[in-house]
Amino acid sequence: MTEYTQIFKGTAFSSTSPKEVQTLKDYLFFINADGTIEKVVAPEHIDYQTLLDTYQDNENFHQLADGQYFLPGFIDLHVHAPQWAQSGTALDIPLYDWLNKYTFPIESKFSDLDFAKEVYEDLVSTLLANGTTTSLYFATVHKEASLLLAEICAKKGQRGLVGKVVMDDPEQNPDFYRDADTQTALADTEEFILAVKELAKSTKQGVYPVVTPRFIPSCTDGALKGLGELAAKYDTHVQSHCSESDWEHGYVQDRFKKNDAFALHDFGLLGDKSVMAHSNFLNDADAELFAETGTAVGHCPISNAYFANSVIPIAHLHSKGVDIGLGSDVSGGFSPSLFDNARQAVMSSRMLEDGVNTALAAEKRGVPNSRITINEAFYLATAGGGESLSLPIGRLEENYTWDAQIIDTKIASAKLPIFDKNEDLNDIFQKIMYLVRPENISEVWVQGNKVHERTK
Ligand code: GUN
Ligand code: FE
Repeated sequence: MTEYTQIFKGTAFSSTSPKEVQTLKDYLFFINADGTIEKVVAPEHIDYQTLLDTYQDNENFHQLADGQYFLPGFIDLHVHAPQWAQSGTALDIPLYDWLNKYTFPIESKFSDLDFAKEVYEDLVSTLLANGTTTSLYFATVHKEASLLLAEICAKKGQRGLVGKVVMDDPEQNPDFYRDADTQTALADTEEFILAVKELAKSTKQGVYPVVTPRFIPSCTDGALKGLGELAAKYDTHVQSHCSESDWEHGYVQDRFKKNDAFALHDFGLLGDKSVMAHSNFLNDADAELFAETGTAVGHCPISNAYFANSVIPIAHLHSKGVDIGLGSDVSGGFSPSLFDNARQAVMSSRMLEDGVNTALAAEKRGVPNSRITINEAFYLATAGGGESLSLPIGRLEENYTWDAQIIDTKIASAKLPIFDKNEDLNDIFQKIMYLVRPENISEVWVQGNKVHERTK
């Protein structure tokens, strides 16, 4: 008989396509020693009752209580870990000023490993408590503190993809916060990649080094070229910011006479394991290049409302075949919750579709066919994120990892408004997506291990 490390019984929601969420009512999930879902069994299956009889009295059998549901763990495609220390502040100024007045000064403090430890431990715990089981992180320029973030993810059980940030251009970055020079930036990145690969050998859920040019404006051509070569040499993930705001998009057009997408491609930075944050100003040729190369968009809807001067046309990019996931962009986005970001993704898309300027006639106000549904936003936070990272995560299906959140709709301090004992499960799913607060997330599992449990 196969040994399973954990067996779960309950009702789960999981995406089967961007628009469709499947309800798996009272299913059994069998988890193997790797933390992978080895078998999923529906109540209609002929072996269901026999399996239940065999396992239900075991210590490792977990049956959800009435009012509890499984969701896949969320995948945050864009978190600036050091910026957690300034979350919610200074959101009233443009991107360029925000970076120079607030963000670079706070990030420079992460040369202090004690400070880094305090902030990073708090952030990783907070993200887990919010249901985020995988995060794609920007750390800072500091090699040691970046490695510390990977170690904290490893220790706390989160799947962390971590980048040491490169910003080497002395013309564009302040003296108090940048790489010493191009060669040092590349050498530090290579050492960082090797150290995280070493750490990964003893980390069940995986930690991954990520090649991370902050964005084109902060990097010299030499650094961008060298980083493309390192990504190829070590087959790493790559992340950056792409076509985020009018200022940033314009800067790249002035420097390279092309858009970010093609400029990044010239340096070997686009590929199946590349995730580009924001990407609001992609034109159709850029989107086709993303689709061809397998490059994903990390959509950060809350941050975009402050810094991107625009609403990204998510529905259009999906129709072009671009992989898309969701990002909090802490702290350009103030919230560490992908529930909050999923809600904003839907609301922003509705505002894009209808338009916002009441001085214009209704038919001239918006961009038709731009709305996305809450099902699509859920897909972005789960399966879309997994596809963006080319990892088997984000779905509660066989051969995916057991990364899951247990949602409790009945806890006293945050009870969901469910009054009908036979309420349609699709309606319950929508209530979960719109109304859940961190208190409702009673347990979080990554790769078959429990990594968070709500304490009353
Ligand atoms: N572009 C370059 N750096 C950053 C950053 O930290 N946040 C955001 N939103 N955009 C950036
Ligand atoms: Fe960002």
